[in-house]
Amino acid sequence: MSGSPATSDGPGRSGLAVVVGAGGGLGAALVAQLQHAGRYDQVVSLGRASEIHLDYADESSIAAGAQAVAGLCAESGLALRLLLVATGFLHGQQGQPERGWRHLDAAYLQHVFLVNTVGPALLIKHFFPLLPRQGRCVAGFVSARVGSIGDNALGGWYGYRASKAALNQLVKTAAIELTRSNRESICVALHPGTVDTPLSQPFAKTGLTVRPPQEAAGDLLAVLAGLAPASTGALVDYRGQTLPF
Ligand SMILES: NC(=O)c1ccc[n+]([C@@H]2O[C@H](COP(=O)([O-])OP(=O)(O)OC[C@H]3O[C@@H](n4cnc5c(N)ncnc54)[C@H](OP(=O)(O)O)[C@@H]3O)[C@@H](O)[C@H]2O)c1
Repeated sequence: MSGSPATSDGPGRSGLAVVVGAGGGLGAALVAQLQHAGRYDQVVSLGRASEIHLDYADESSIAAGAQAVAGLCAESGLALRLLLVATGFLHGQQGQPERGWRHLDAAYLQHVFLVNTVGPALLIKHFFPLLPRQGRCVAGFVSARVGSIGDNALGGWYGYRASKAALNQLVKTAAIELTRSNRESICVALHPGTVDTPLSQPFAKTGLTVRPPQEAAGDLLAVLAGLAPASTGALVDYRGQTLPF
């Protein structure tokens, strides 16, 4: 994959938006909101069940996804202005989040790091070269407040916490590199709040505010729209507040 395919969207055009993890609770809501708002000329869905198939277990699918997006940019003359990553793993066939150190399990840890850390790192590798070198462009990676080391008061969930903390470091590192090629770029990690999706469903406790994915998606898009390049590299929540790493 070579160079950014387009640097100008032309007068009155706002570019192309990509959502990775479009089949998830939050991802589907982000796609729906972006399509409804009409802020971007084209919204492209990527995921394991999307037409442009992308699975973190297979790097060649990530490279092929980037190539497909580069092709769409070239065809339309649009630049990739928004990359949103809404993938994530907490529980499933591969295991459950650890309540204590006795539950630490290599297979679960490998999977949670594959989905929450390695996959997004490979997205940076294959998709960031497509971002334009001029004009505003935004990359948002949905992380989680529990990945904040400074904010960890409860313990537990070793793998999820560590994989999201590592994601936050990747985002910060990529933000610095991206600024070198485009000073108007913004690359952030995002905390969506607790959202009613399959990921949170088994852990929704009474007393916890659980919001519909549509509301969380709307909040995240509003936060991203209001961010300035000075915020690049930060972990930002759905209210626009910067959280400690
Ligand atoms: N829900 C919450 O309360 C909450 C709170 C804090 C942070 N978050 C974060 O928000 C993000 C979205 O989660 P969600 O709540 O929408 O969960 P979800 O409904 O379970 O969605 C998870 C997404 O991750 C994708 N994914 C899983 N394994 C993958 C793999 N091997 N390759 C590529 N994609 C893979 C899924 O793809 P498929 O559609 O193909 O399965 C799906 O799109 C995650 O980063 C999560 O950590 C959620």
